Amino acid sequence: MTMTAHPHVETFFDEATNTFSYVVRDPASAACAVVDSVLDFDYASGAISHASADRIIQYIRDNKLVLEWLIETHVHADHLSAAPYIQKILGGKIGIGAGIRIVQETFGKVFNEGTEFQRDGSQFDRLFEDDDSYAIGTLPVTVLHTPGHTPACMTHVAGDAAFVGDTLFMPDGGTARADFPGGDARTLYRSTRRVLDLPPETRLFMCHDYGPNGRQILNETTVAEQRAHNIHVHDGISEDEFVRLRTERDATLAMPRLILPSLQVNMKAGALPEPEDNGRSYLKIPINAF
Ligand SMILES: [Fe+2]
Repeated sequence: MTMTAHPHVETFFDEATNTFSYVVRDPASAACAVVDSVLDFDYASGAISHASADRIIQYIRDNKLVLEWLIETHVHADHLSAAPYIQKILGGKIGIGAGIRIVQETFGKVFNEGTEFQRDGSQFDRLFEDDDSYAIGTLPVTVLHTPGHTPACMTHVAGDAAFVGDTLFMPDGGTARADFPGGDARTLYRSTRRVLDLPPETRLFMCHDYGPNGRQILNETTVAEQRAHNIHVHDGISEDEFVRLRTERDATLAMPRLILPSLQVNMKAGALPEPEDNGRSYLKIPINAF
């Protein structure tokens, strides 16, 4: 019988976008991974800053950890990734689901990217396929393809800890929307069932929480809790019921505030646009694309 590893997971919360970033530590070595880092972006002024990323860097340095991986659970539409900024300082490989190619195809068109924009995921160091595996030091990680919110969504399972991205929210938050291009409610339902098939005691780490009904912000739950209480996908809710509920809810949701800057940066592994001849980078706002 093999013992399931119980890695230490350090949580960082970005209040501006309600995003959780994580540092996952190999219990048997100094190796670690960063999951879903955030680059601070003030839309009104166009200012980019690094306070959120610097807190993660400081934690890794203070604990004398070695950064091996920068994981994106998916192409985020609500914040910019700080992965390249952290990579430049601490090293590590940037990894995302192989479905990124579909996202690049879709949004390459939306942002009218030229032929120099490769739609093959080559901006990333590693593309994960379903049931892929890798290691953080000696800690094995398996990767489940969990599309529905986006085609590139993956759930990373490291010992008894699973990083679900936007596949699930806390039980009282339900699930993420499935109405972005490439999203699909039926597919999302099947992905949630895959996550909920993990052992009941598995710790599930959220990517977002908005504190529904005024409760405090929370980031961690278990498979058992979700199966008993998740308002969208607890045991007993059928696929058709979920699809109806999800579709109705999605019709009421506005676009996330940072979707346009986020997608055009995150689909390039977080790289900012090449500077123009005055040395400054510019982001595009497509008019009436959504
Ligand atoms: Fe998302």
